[in-house]
Amino acid sequence: MSDLPVNLAYLAAAVLFVFGLKMLGSPSAARRGNALSAAGMLIAVVATLLARDIVAFHWIAVAAVAGAVVGALAARLVAMTAMPEMVALFNGSGGIASLLVGSAALFPATAGVSSVDAGGISMFTATTILLSVLIGGVTFSGSIVAWGKLAAVLPSGALVFAGQRLVNGGIFAALLVCGVFFALAPAPDSPYFIAVLVLALALGVMAAVPIGGADMPVVISLLNSYSGLAACAAGFAINNNILIVSGSLVGAAGIILTNIMCKAMNRSLVNVLFSGFGAAKSGAKVEGEVKPISADDAGLILEAASAVTFVPGYGMAVAQAQHVVHELGELLEENGCEVTYAIHPVAGRMPGHMNVLLAEANVPYDQLVEMDDINRRMANVDVAVVIGANDVVNTAAREDDSSPIYGMPTINVDHARTVFVLKRSMASGFAGVDNPLFFGANTRMLFGDAKASIAALIASLKA
Ligand code: TAP
Repeated sequence: MSDLPVNLAYLAAAVLFVFGLKMLGSPSAARRGNALSAAGMLIAVVATLLARDIVAFHWIAVAAVAGAVVGALAARLVAMTAMPEMVALFNGSGGIASLLVGSAALFPATAGVSSVDAGGISMFTATTILLSVLIGGVTFSGSIVAWGKLAAVLPSGALVFAGQRLVNGGIFAALLVCGVFFALAPAPDSPYFIAVLVLALALGVMAAVPIGGADMPVVISLLNSYSGLAACAAGFAINNNILIVSGSLVGAAGIILTNIMCKAMNRSLVNVLFSGFGAAKSGAKVEGEVKPISADDAGLILEAASAVTFVPGYGMAVAQAQHVVHELGELLEENGCEVTYAIHPVAGRMPGHMNVLLAEANVPYDQLVEMDDINRRMANVDVAVVIGANDVVNTAAREDDSSPIYGMPTINVDHARTVFVLKRSMASGFAGVDNPLFFGANTRMLFGDAKASIAALIASLKA
């Protein structure tokens, strides 16, 4: 196949990626956007397989079948609550794939698919190989640490020790030195290449361990961005246009998402990466009177309400309460009540976690309200029903400047006339910080599993 049809196929794929990404911006178009991008990827893969001087297809077929089986099983079997861990593993897979593709460009046997020629490896190619190994390696080992923290295989807190930055600086300096020596005399058996590989993996671990669990959303989207940049570098190494384009798109999208996450926490990226958040400060101890409420009493108040806002959080995902929450919302609407769902950008454990759950329960998209909008309307809300959310409604973020989450924007449910908090105990949320909201004058605690509590509210409204 000549280059023109292949590049035209790549162009079509790139257009599909861009439109697909754009459609992911709205919940109603997201599924079609995903399908469009997947179609683009299929076109890109088929064009690549037809165009390249592939020695034998059987290993590719084995890998494609194995990949498809893992992907299909993961999509069906991984619980919604374990999705962040899966995203971390997928980012890591992207990183190691780019590392391997970049490294493969070092070997003359891959000359057909790389810019390696009989005269050896150019300085440019050597640099792109280095970048794909460096960024891919950091992405891989950093993602494994992120996965370990999210899956509770590793302690989720920030691991900080004296001289940490010095050690990281030393690793980075060694990487630069080894990288320069490799680029000056690139060869598959260069000891500097092995050194870069090992140091990149070490840097990924060292960069991820000081980041506390509460900052994982940012780290995951940043690693997603890195996996794109690594793919882009690998694309230059093997001279493949669509890898360059798709890698850049992932890199840019990941950085935009990272920025949104940082804004949602009112923190800079530098603060997220280097502050060891959560390792030291834990905020003021909160004490006061807790006012529990029964489902029947809460049901009576809901029956009389004309504006109710649900504020879902991680606990709703754990309880799998989204379907009963929607059922309760419909009951209230039938009663003439205006129902909204307040979405905090980092509620749950992954970007868009609440949107995905509520979409699964067929909650209409126009009832989802973003944080800034709902905060403006909160004073007119009769009842704010907090369902397994904690950090994202923590008033200490506004009021206690000794709190580790001070400055993080929250959904200001305490401004509503009444607040119901549905959770099982007085335990703190992901950031491990006490929540003064639970002792508020207008707060009532409805203790129990969120799904059971909502079912009891439905029963009380129907009675
Ligand atoms: P959290 O602060 O984690 O609080 C969740 C609450 O749900 C807990 O206090 C827990 O209290 C309750 N809960 C757990 N299981 C429950 C069940 N079956 N029924 C009822 N309640 C249950 O959640 P959040 O407010 O959504 O905040 C998210 C936090 O995670 C933030 O700190 C955020 O930075 C971090 N984070 C976010 C992401 C993304 S991208 N969204 C990713 C990683 C981390 P009980 O144990 O008392 O029931």
